[in-house]
Amino acid sequence: MADRYLSFAGTAPGRFLTHRLGLPQPAELRRDALDGGLLHLTAGRTDLDLAPVLGRTGLGPDDDGRPAAVVLDATGVRDVDALTEVHAALHPVVRSVAVSGRVVVLGAPLDPDDHHQAAVQQALEGFTRSLGKEIGRGRTVNLVRLADAAAAESTLRFLLSPASAYVSGQVIEVGPATDPPAAVPDDPEHPLAGRTALVTGAARGIGAAVAGTLAGQGARVVVLDVPQAEREARGLAERLGGTSLALDITAADAGERIAAAVPGGLDVLIHNAGVTRDRRLVNMPAEHWSSVLDVNLASVLRTTDALLAAGAVNRGGRIVATASIAGLAGNAGQTNYGASKAGIVGMVRSLAPRALREHGVTVNAVAPGFIETKMTAAVPLFIREAGRRMNSLAQGGLPADVAETTAWLAHPASGSVNGQVVRVCGQSLLGA
Ligand SMILES: NC(=O)c1ccc[n+]([C@@H]2O[C@H](COP(=O)([O-])OP(=O)(O)OC[C@H]3O[C@@H](n4cnc5c(N)ncnc54)[C@H](O)[C@@H]3O)[C@@H](O)[C@H]2O)c1
Repeated sequence: MADRYLSFAGTAPGRFLTHRLGLPQPAELRRDALDGGLLHLTAGRTDLDLAPVLGRTGLGPDDDGRPAAVVLDATGVRDVDALTEVHAALHPVVRSVAVSGRVVVLGAPLDPDDHHQAAVQQALEGFTRSLGKEIGRGRTVNLVRLADAAAAESTLRFLLSPASAYVSGQVIEVGPATDPPAAVPDDPEHPLAGRTALVTGAARGIGAAVAGTLAGQGARVVVLDVPQAEREARGLAERLGGTSLALDITAADAGERIAAAVPGGLDVLIHNAGVTRDRRLVNMPAEHWSSVLDVNLASVLRTTDALLAAGAVNRGGRIVATASIAGLAGNAGQTNYGASKAGIVGMVRSLAPRALREHGVTVNAVAPGFIETKMTAAVPLFIREAGRRMNSLAQGGLPADVAETTAWLAHPASGSVNGQVVRVCGQSLLGA
């Protein structure tokens, strides 16, 4: 369903009226290209050699004082005095950042042996989230904690591109370079060329967008959905040049059947299938509880275990599971759903280091907020409006926003991004 308020707020009378009435003033997000150059600032002494990485983002230097993106390297901030430089660097430029522009703050891992460094590096998190809430005009603010500029290249490219339009207020940790270093794709437009990706629940909604984006980046996709959705799944697979697999993911042998369908193994596994059966706990039948837990969590655990044990996820592989802000913040009427999605977060945090060590596979999660899908279009008007506006960008996200975030996590060069839960929620006020 079209967001008519967003379109109206973009007109001259809309801007006047929303301003006078103190209503949310969402800006149309740029999802095609960023409008301007890149401004690179530093706070504290830094050893990070960012120039080569930033040079490959496709953004030229800012030459008109209206940057589309600002990168503040604050990795060298180790005490409160140096924190002053964060203010000094951003205070004069923040107003001039273009509509739907980007601010990316770079921080260092917290030093367990230096509580002053840890204090001020953690301070950057509160700073980033606060600036994200006040900057407005469709602009995003994110913090990346990194140890190595090259290992963070895919992450910086994502955050400094239109692909991250609906990702704001996030703290992303990028680990050290992997050994061997992550493969750099020959063709940057098709980084997934030659790779096989399976997306569960891909016949429609977010899953269909994810399958489309991965195929667009060169992957051979397998569109998995329940037998009742076989026609849609097959149609989409044909359009994307992939294959479909009619399978209820809760089947006890789902992992084995997936492995049999991809004899060369999987390079990308996207756990997207999900269901809701909303009721308050007092009214919730046991069946509502168990069916949601089974689709959203138990089947993810079961198939992941089976596929890893069978060696069916290739080395350098990527697993991305789908959580939700309801799993982070909780939501009335969704104790079953909230539990299942919080379970995904627990799985990712525990499995990620082990899966990387033992199988060379990363495990991350996306946590969508309010995304414009058939599911959210069916929500009653006032609840839908509240869901749409209660985030820093004052609008819902699109399935493409979740798909782009998934594609960054699935990128061959994202091997140092592991165990992360990245919200695609426009910095939702829920659980922020
Ligand atoms: N739409 C949102 O705003 C939103 C917000 C947060 C999280 N999410 C999560 O994102 C994912 C996709 O959501 P969506 O809005 O596209 O939902 P959707 O209902 O449009 O699509 C879900 C797909 O999963 C499939 N599916 C359901 N049970 C299955 C099973 N047992 N085996 C195989 N396939 C199964 C369905 O047939 C459907 O095609 C879900 O995990 C959902 O919980 C969505």
